[in-house]
Amino acid sequence: SERSFIMIKPDGVQRQLIGEIVSRFERRGYKLVAAKMMTPSVQLAKQHYAEHDGKPFFESLVNFLTSGPVFAMVWEGKDIVATGRKMIGKTKPLESDPGTIRGDFGIDVGRNIIHGSDSVDSANREIKLWFHAEDLNSWKPVTQGWIYE
Ligand code: GTP
Ligand code: MG
Repeated sequence: SERSFIMIKPDGVQRQLIGEIVSRFERRGYKLVAAKMMTPSVQLAKQHYAEHDGKPFFESLVNFLTSGPVFAMVWEGKDIVATGRKMIGKTKPLESDPGTIRGDFGIDVGRNIIHGSDSVDSANREIKLWFHAEDLNSWKPVTQGWIYE
C-alpha cells in the first residue's frame, strides 16, 4: 500500500499541533507506520529540500527546518500521497483553503506547519532519507475492514 513522508515542522511542534495533526490523519483512516521527534541537521535539511537549492528562500528554509525539533512520520493508505497533500493544503497561504491544515493554522508561506511528499517517487526518496527500513512498522489495524470496502 502507498506511503507518504509527512513532517510537522518546528513551528507546528512549538505551537503544540502534533496531536491535532496526527488526529486528522488517524480519523481519516490512514495508518501511522513510523514517527520520531528530532532536530534535523543542516545536511539532512539540504538533502530533503535539494530541489529548491539555489532559490532565494533556500537558506531561510534550511535555517527554519533546523531551528528546533520536527515530528517526522510515515503514513500509509490508499492514495496517501495525493490525499495527504489535500489535507495539508496549498503552499501559498492565500490558496490554502479552510479545512486544510495550512488553511486552518497558518498565515505565512515560511511558517506553514507541515510537509508532505509531492509524489510517490518523492515519498520513497524522503522515507529512505529520514528513516531506517527497520523503523517502518507493518501492521494491520482492526478497523481496516470498516475503512476499506
Ligand atoms: P513542503 O511540503 O514543505 O515541501 O511544501 P510544498 O511542497 O507545499 O512547497 P515547495 O516544495 O514548493 O516549497 C518548500 C517550502 O519552501 C514551502 O513549504 C515553503 O515553506 C517554502 N517556500 C516555497 N515557496 C516559497 C516562496 O516563494 N517564498 C518563501 N519565503 N518560501 C517559499
Ligand atoms: Mg514540496
